[in-house]
Amino acid sequence: MHFRAFAAAFVAVALLCAHFATQVLAHGDVTPQPIDTAGLDPLGDEWRKHNPYRDNATAISIGASGYNQNCARCHGLEAISGGLAPDLRLLDKGDAGDEWFMERIRNGAKKSDGTTIMPAFEGLISQEAMWAVRTYLESKFTEQ
Ligand code: HEC
Repeated sequence: MHFRAFAAAFVAVALLCAHFATQVLAHGDVTPQPIDTAGLDPLGDEWRKHNPYRDNATAISIGASGYNQNCARCHGLEAISGGLAPDLRLLDKGDAGDEWFMERIRNGAKKSDGTTIMPAFEGLISQEAMWAVRTYLESKFTEQ
């Protein structure tokens, strides 16, 4: 690995660890981080049913950073779950998994007593950002 890439990765991990330490106990009470989607085709107001960016390399890299900033604290670094929340590498690939992914990322999840266990991201990050995260996760897909 090039030193600069290594140094950047090291800093990213260090920052995430610091973040994790302060945020892990504050479930459901998380500040969404903006995701810059410059370089992706804009999608307009209508919600897409299927991932418009599938296999798009730009979407994978934008999605990777969007995931690490917004989802990793619960779903695990590099999408490898530490057991706090489901392992998102196992989500169905392709159209079959798109609908469930969008349902969860837009609406979040609550326990039956109404406690938020995953925040809703609709209105906080763009549709483009959501599909970029989906594209990243598909690139990490793992068989059960
Ligand atoms: C505060 C913790 C938390 C954060 C942050 C979070 N999630 Fe979740 N997520 C959960 C939990 C807990 C569940 C399981 C919900 C359930 O059991 O109904 C879940 C479920 C899901 C599911 C359904 C998984 C399945 O196997 O059914 C998807 C998809 C998902 N999350 C995507 C995301 C994405 C993408 C992000 C970031 C944009 C994110 N989550 C951020 C806690 C979180």
